Amino acid sequence: MNEQQRKQANQIKQVDPSDIKSAPEENLERLKNMDSDEMIDKYFQTTYEPPNLKKAKKRLKKDVDIHYDFSISKELQQIGKGKKFLIRTYGCQMNEHDTEIMAGILSDMGYETTDDTNEADVILLNTCAIRENAENKVFGEIGHLKPLKLEKPDLIIGVCGCMSQEESVVNRILKKHPFIDLIFGTHNIHRLPALIEEAMFGKEMVVEVWSKEGDIIENLPKVRKGKIKGWVNIMYGCDKFCTYCIVPYTRGKERSRLPEDIIQEVRQLAAAGYKEITLLGQNVNAYGKDLEFQYGLGDLMDEISKIDIPRIRFTTSHPRDFDDRLIEVLAKGGNLLDHIHLPVQSGSSEVLRVMARRYTRESYLELVKKIRTAMPNATLTTDIIVGFPNETDEQFEETMTLMEEVGFESAYTFIYSPREGTPAARWEDNIPMEVKKERLQRLNALVNKQSAEAMKKYQGQTVKVLVEGESKKDPEVLSGYTERNKLVNFRGPKSIIGEIVEVKITNTKTWTLDGELVHEAAEVK
Ligand code: SAH
Ligand code: SF4
Ligand code: F3S
Repeated sequence: MNEQQRKQANQIKQVDPSDIKSAPEENLERLKNMDSDEMIDKYFQTTYEPPNLKKAKKRLKKDVDIHYDFSISKELQQIGKGKKFLIRTYGCQMNEHDTEIMAGILSDMGYETTDDTNEADVILLNTCAIRENAENKVFGEIGHLKPLKLEKPDLIIGVCGCMSQEESVVNRILKKHPFIDLIFGTHNIHRLPALIEEAMFGKEMVVEVWSKEGDIIENLPKVRKGKIKGWVNIMYGCDKFCTYCIVPYTRGKERSRLPEDIIQEVRQLAAAGYKEITLLGQNVNAYGKDLEFQYGLGDLMDEISKIDIPRIRFTTSHPRDFDDRLIEVLAKGGNLLDHIHLPVQSGSSEVLRVMARRYTRESYLELVKKIRTAMPNATLTTDIIVGFPNETDEQFEETMTLMEEVGFESAYTFIYSPREGTPAARWEDNIPMEVKKERLQRLNALVNKQSAEAMKKYQGQTVKVLVEGESKKDPEVLSGYTERNKLVNFRGPKSIIGEIVEVKITNTKTWTLDGELVHEAAEVK
C-alpha cells in the first residue's frame, strides 16, 4: 500500500444516520404483552427501517475505503470483564471466519469464551441464509433460547450473519421473537462494541443492518479457532448474481483486500506455526478485479507460494473466472495444493443459462481439460443443485453424465430452495418435492460411488497427512487430511498433532481412508 492509499484509509466511518435502523421505544416487558400486529404497527411508526434486498443490489460506483484504525475505547475494553460469550456459527467458511473476528472483538472487550449457554452473558447466532433449512435451524435455536432469556433478563442474545441482511427475517424476529436484544448485519461487525453497549444499557431491541456493503477494515482482532489451519479472507462479497443465490445481497459487492495486507497476514500465520492456509472469498478467483492495478488470484498465489507454509488452498472459485494465469501458477505445485473445488451447479447448458452462471456444459468441460492438462493429478470437487425451476428429466440426466465425465471425487448436492428477493424466487418452484428428492438420491448414489472409487486408488499408497487431532469417533485414533483433502484415520502418538507425517493407506471407505504411520519422528514437508 502506498502513502496515498494509506492517507485515504481515514477514520472508520462513523454511523451514517440514513443507514442506521434504530429500534423502537418499547422495553422487553411491554413487548411481551403486545399482540404481534400491534407490535409491528409500533415498529413501523418509529424510525425503524428494515434491511432492503433491492438496496443491497445497488452497487456503489465509488472505491471501497480501507481502514487500519479500528479501536475499542478504554471503557468498552472493560465492559465484558467477568462475563462470558458464546457464538453459534451456521453456514460457510466466511461465517466461520467472521466468528473468529467477533470472538476477537469480544475478547478485547474483556469477555471470555464458553460452550455452555447457561454460563453465557452474550449469545450470538451467526446465521446463514443460503437455503430455507439453514434458516429453519436458526429459528429453532432462537425458540430454544427464549426460556433462558426469560430466566436471565440480562443475557444479551444477538442475531447476525447473512439472515440478518434479509428484511423478512428481521420482521419475523420483531414480530415473533421480541426477546432478541440485537440484530446486526454482515457489514456491521466492526460496530460490535458499540452495539453490545447499546444492547446492554438500552432496553430496546438494537437493530443495525447496512444494506449496502461496508468498507474493508484491516485491523480487526481475531481469535482463531485452531493453531494448525487458518483462514485468510482475500476478498468479500459477490457480483455474480446467480439467479437462485442470496449471497450477493447478504454480502455486498466484490471488494478485494490489498495484496500486501494479505501477504502480511499469511506471513504472520506462518511465523505462528500454522501449517495450512485457506484463502477465502465467495468468488475467490474474481480477486483483484476491483483493484486499481492489474493483479489477480494467480499473481497472489504466486507470491504466497514463496512463503514458508506447507499448504495453501483457496475456496470457492467460479468457473467463469478461472483464468490461464491461475492454472499456470497452480501447476507449479509446491505448497499450492491441486485440489480444486469448482462448483458446476448443473450439467445442462440451458439450466446454466437460466441460473445465469455464464458458462455452458461445453465451456466447463473445456476448462476441466485445461486444468487436467496442466495438473494431471488435480482432484476436482463440486456443488450441484437439483430441481431448479423447469429442470426436465433430460436436463437432470445431463448433470448425471457430467458428474461421470468430469470424474468429480466428491460433491455437495442440494435441493433447490427459493430465496426471497432473488430472480428465481419469482418463477414457479414447479418440480414436485418427490421428484427433487428422487433426483437428489440418484445423484448422491453416484457421488458416493465416485468418491469410493477415488478412495480405492489410495490403497497401499503412502500419503502426506496434516495431523489435526484425535478422531471424533475414537480418541485413540488420530486424523488429518491429505493434500487432496481426503480424511485419514490412523494410530500414532499425540505428539505428532500439528505435523505433516507419512501414512500408508491400509483400507479405503467411501469418505475416509485408514492407514498406518510410516514416519513418526521427522516432519515431512
Ligand atoms: N460462491 C460459491 C458457493 C456459494 S453457496 C459458488 O459460487 O460456487 C454454496 C452452494 O450452495 C452453491 O454452490 C450452490 O450449489 C448452493 N446454493 C446456493 N443457493 C442455493 C439455493 N437457493 N438453493 C439450493 N442450493 C443453493
Ligand atoms: Fe452465489 Fe453465484 Fe455468487 Fe456463488 S457465484 S456466491 S452461487 S451468486
Ligand atoms: Fe450462508 Fe452467507 Fe455463507 S448465506 S453460505 S453464510 S455467505
